[in-house]
Amino acid sequence: MLVFGQIPSAIEREAYQWYRGFSLCEQNVASRQWNLYQKVLEDGWGWCATTEDEDDFVALGYLKPDEFDPASWELGGLMLARTHRNRGVGICLARLMVASFLVSESDPSEKPINIHAFVLEDNTKAQNFMVNSLGFKETYKFSVDKKDAPENLPSKNGKVEGRRYDIVFPDTPTHIADWLQQFKFIVGKSPNMEDVMLDDYDQRDIDTWIQMLRAM
Ligand SMILES: CC(C)(COP(=O)(O)OP(=O)(O)OC[C@H]1O[C@@H](n2cnc3c(N)ncnc32)[C@H](O)[C@@H]1OP(=O)(O)O)[C@@H](O)C(=O)NCCC(=O)NCCS
Repeated sequence: MLVFGQIPSAIEREAYQWYRGFSLCEQNVASRQWNLYQKVLEDGWGWCATTEDEDDFVALGYLKPDEFDPASWELGGLMLARTHRNRGVGICLARLMVASFLVSESDPSEKPINIHAFVLEDNTKAQNFMVNSLGFKETYKFSVDKKDAPENLPSKNGKVEGRRYDIVFPDTPTHIADWLQQFKFIVGKSPNMEDVMLDDYDQRDIDTWIQMLRAM
């Protein structure tokens, strides 16, 4: 059984240790210092997937306000244990995180808040994930000097390069609503992976999410 939910403050340190080890090892996610990661969790939304019996982390991700683009939130730190890849676990975490964020932070009388993600140039797996699994679209390519980028990220000729992906309205929320509608995680068995549980929400919340996502 896997449990999905927001990272409780009691296990922020453990989440950080997992995040730090992962990001230093795989080098395709920015590796932030503890105080920065803690701030991200404070200001934004940290989500995780853990095993129910052992409380081991399986996946992590967060949404945080973008310091350079105040009109948009950044989806980052998305990482999935190698043992759990290619089974839909990353899709599940990313969609739940985006859905819960959109319904909580959007004002129905205004345009929904934008969400974007940055992916490194050579990370084709994550690039495809943004488009095929999350329904984002590529908006531009970026190139920053190595000295201005997080230290652990790989560079070529002194530059860290990649692509930005942005949410598409109404396509992304509609796509996630369709998925939520057939995903019976509260009762246990999901149609396409293993047993899944969602912390702190119940089926009524999910029905409300679906309605609100369809209205965006
Ligand atoms: C990016 C990352 C989170 C994506 O994880 P993932 O393994 O693709 O995610 P999922 O477990 O949801 O698997 C999705 C894939 O499994 C397939 N899949 C297999 N069985 C599935 C099932 N039962 N249900 C849903 N999808 C399933 C999907 O079709 C999809 O395949 P595709 O990649 O060919 O499109 C993961 O590769 C990772 O942690 N990479 C290293 C860190 C990183 O790059 N992070 C992103 C930085 S921007």
